[in-house]
Amino acid sequence: MTPLFVCICARVRENEVRAAIKLGARCEESVGEACGAGTNCGSCLDRICDMIEEESADTLVGVSA
Ligand code: FES
Repeated sequence: MTPLFVCICARVRENEVRAAIKLGARCEESVGEACGAGTNCGSCLDRICDMIEEESADTLVGVSA
């Protein structure tokens, strides 16, 4: 199966971005510092923002459960 790249420029896969978010990255800048995604052309930033929202929603569900 082809790896699902979120950031083509930095060759960062979706699972790497999710891992960075789980480790505490809560904005595009901190995701970029953690794994390099979104640090070049910026065309992946919308996707990274969506993933931060998805992961944060999961975390909030986990906390309230
Ligand atoms: S695709 Fe992520 S910075 Fe270009």
